[in-house]
Amino acid sequence: MNKNDDFSIAGAPVLIDQWDAFLRKFHEFSNRASSVHLICDENTYLHCLPLLSFLREVINSPIVIPAGEQYKTLDTCEHVWKALIDQKADRNSIVINLGGGVVTDLGGFCAATFMRGIDFIHIPTTLLAMCDAALGGKHGVDFEELKNYIGTISQPKFIWIYPPFLQTLPKRQLQNGMAEMIKHALIKDIVLYQFLESVPSGFIKDWVPLLQQSIQVKIDFVNDDLYEHGLRAALNFGHTFGHALESYFLLTDTPLLHGECIALGMVVETWLSHMVLGTPERVTCRNITLLLRRHIPVEVPAKIRMSELMKYLSKDKKQRAGVIRFSLIRSIGQPVIDQAVEPAMLEALLEDPEIALILPWLLR
Ligand SMILES: NC(=O)c1ccc[n+]([C@@H]2O[C@H](COP(=O)([O-])OP(=O)(O)OC[C@H]3O[C@@H](n4cnc5c(N)ncnc54)[C@H](O)[C@@H]3O)[C@@H](O)[C@H]2O)c1
Repeated sequence: MNKNDDFSIAGAPVLIDQWDAFLRKFHEFSNRASSVHLICDENTYLHCLPLLSFLREVINSPIVIPAGEQYKTLDTCEHVWKALIDQKADRNSIVINLGGGVVTDLGGFCAATFMRGIDFIHIPTTLLAMCDAALGGKHGVDFEELKNYIGTISQPKFIWIYPPFLQTLPKRQLQNGMAEMIKHALIKDIVLYQFLESVPSGFIKDWVPLLQQSIQVKIDFVNDDLYEHGLRAALNFGHTFGHALESYFLLTDTPLLHGECIALGMVVETWLSHMVLGTPERVTCRNITLLLRRHIPVEVPAKIRMSELMKYLSKDKKQRAGVIRFSLIRSIGQPVIDQAVEPAMLEALLEDPEIALILPWLLR
């Protein structure tokens, strides 16, 4: 593993917990910017901004957006762009994105497109954004019911991960973030997987080493393949099915969280890996299913037919010529990308009685 101060992703330094280094870097960029602007949501305004009281003297009035995935839209971007114009931001301004994945995705997109792109810094405040969303440069918004359909790849000047923000994060959100951490373990890091197997849910006290380990996985995949022409797609494990579920429930009165959908997506795609690749072994599939359920207990609010989800699956960004492509795993730590799966195969998944029992909310 890299030393803490060596972390960088696509050229952007990643600081984990290092308050002094953060201050130095922050002043380096803010001193040469013509103005500093901060985007947060209503919760990070209340809970996170007070931990950074020194910022009040440097930034314009915080640009506060409503909290929640349903606001990751072009309408919210318009609000942000207008606020930046009102605050007289120019091409030498810098934007700080203080929040979870919604703020870093949307704030990064707004900054990357404002006047054709201005500098920005990410300060992720949820576990999910710390170990995933704020890293790698993918920014964007949902469009109609489609997840992350409009966006850019653009890098922040640096990312600062400060675990004390997690103290105010609701338990469901903390569990939500475990999904991406478990995904990193499943696609690359058996040692992290074994640790997560050994620790009871909710018992993690020191986040720093776990964040380092999980972030290292993301760094490795992104640095090797910035524009996702190859193995970076392994990071999509659980996401093809997960995004379809997320899009489906986003339109209902009972939306599910991103990490919850990815956790369910990983259960489905683990068993799909078994069907398509012959591996992982059933016993491994059972262990992975148990681990995911223990760390991320999800109540699926309604039963869904596979045929209903197919509408969303067929719009997945990885599909080519109508064939859905999955990132699967051959075993823990061994991802396999670009696996074409026919719709009939997905439906057949539920003919296996064990799988049907594990996924009682999914109907043929
Ligand atoms: N760009 C990427 O590579 C990437 C990767 C994974 C996920 N994502 C995106 O990330 C988003 C999900 O991110 P998320 O789970 O962080 O959701 P989120 O940004 O909606 O945050 C979850 C909730 O926690 C609140 N919150 C944030 N920090 C807090 C804190 N410290 N204390 C108290 N409350 C706090 C927020 O206001 C919100 O209500 C999705 O839109 C997903 O598509 C992007």
